[in-house]
Amino acid sequence: MKIGTLGAGLVAQSFALKAMAAGHEIVFSNRRGPETLTGLVGEFGPQAHAATLEEAARQEIVLLAVPWANVEDTLNSLPAWHGQILIDATNALTEGGAEDFGQDSSSEMIARLAPGARVVKAMNAMFMENFRKDPVIGDLRRAMFISGNDRSAASDVADLFEDLGFAPVLLGSLARGGRMQAVGATLAGHDLFLPWPAPRSFPAFNGEPAEETA
Ligand SMILES: NC(=O)c1ccc[n+]([C@@H]2O[C@H](COP(=O)([O-])OP(=O)(O)OC[C@H]3O[C@@H](n4cnc5c(N)ncnc54)[C@H](OP(=O)(O)O)[C@@H]3O)[C@@H](O)[C@H]2O)c1
Repeated sequence: MKIGTLGAGLVAQSFALKAMAAGHEIVFSNRRGPETLTGLVGEFGPQAHAATLEEAARQEIVLLAVPWANVEDTLNSLPAWHGQILIDATNALTEGGAEDFGQDSSSEMIARLAPGARVVKAMNAMFMENFRKDPVIGDLRRAMFISGNDRSAASDVADLFEDLGFAPVLLGSLARGGRMQAVGATLAGHDLFLPWPAPRSFPAFNGEPAEETA
């Protein structure tokens, strides 16, 4: 599948390396335009493409990987979303540290800025130096925390990261799970592993009952 990235820095490139190894193509975009990405796509090979933000955002799955200060500008510059999955890999870091959203979360804010997109939070809680390592160690797999308000989108993102070798851990809604995996929160920044294979659990959220699949 072709996956778009908004941002082409460390996080987008780290994701691209693993996604390309699993057979996906990457449509990179950044603020300065596709012509500035020629060197990068040359280095990454034929599965990588350089595009405008609009073209990257048209893909079925889109990774948001820009600095927090630029999230609003990035999303406001895009045309309407039509149900694409928007993976929010950002951390709401300001000069004063982690931004406090109270009972809300940074991903809820992103969902409001991208109406029509199915926002799923993933990747943000992991240092890229860990993300880039082999996620499989014997019978263990590196845990990938995932939150979303749309269960089917969260499940698709869990499938994607499972294909990349991770053990997806679904935390629930963007407000509840998003807060747990936010920068500075309990689950952020640790390098955790789970015995594999593991059943996939969906906690109860948005009024839907909890569910476990083998
Ligand atoms: N670094 C980590 O270990 C890590 C881990 C988890 C999550 N995160 C989060 O992931 C996000 C990205 O981090 P990063 O380390 O990949 O940053 P980065 O290496 O500095 O790359 C940022 C990218 O965002 C692009 N960008 C900035 N403003 C933009 C705009 N208005 N429109 C479109 N593209 C824009 C930049 O494009 P130009 O070069 O054209 O300006 C650049 O390609 C941040 O929110 C960060 O907190 C980082």
